[in-house]
Amino acid sequence: MVEFSVNGTKHSFDGDPETPLLWYLRDLAGMPGTKFGCGLGLCGACTVHLDGVATRSCQTWVSDLDGVEVTTIEGLSEDGNHPVQVAWRELNVAQCGYCQPGQIMQAASLLSETPDPSDEDINASMSGNICRCGTYPRIRAAIKLAAE
Ligand code: FES
Repeated sequence: MVEFSVNGTKHSFDGDPETPLLWYLRDLAGMPGTKFGCGLGLCGACTVHLDGVATRSCQTWVSDLDGVEVTTIEGLSEDGNHPVQVAWRELNVAQCGYCQPGQIMQAASLLSETPDPSDEDINASMSGNICRCGTYPRIRAAIKLAAE
């Protein structure tokens, strides 16, 4: 039996030990905010925080989460007013929006570790989060705005 928390709520799991966290969240926990893109750890759409660190949930087994605090886009803030979310709205970052929960979770993790990131810091942190709509300039601007 694995026990962990998701957005502050306790969860326990004793199913298939190779169940990816992404599918646990979406199919078993009823939290569809975390998106499936590639399933291979290559696109960032499934990014969540494990103990505050941005992590690809498609490559994380639930059986490895004992004692871990998981945060998803649904739990990043109570009211959608995390500074990153505010900046995202202010600059209308999203186009189709599909990758944006992962982008926001990656950006929030970056800013918690590096509150005033350089362009190089942003590129290094965000380069694994793919956006088919090409919203990268607005993502970078929103991270700078959130850092102010
Ligand atoms: Fe996990 Fe693409 S779905 S990195």
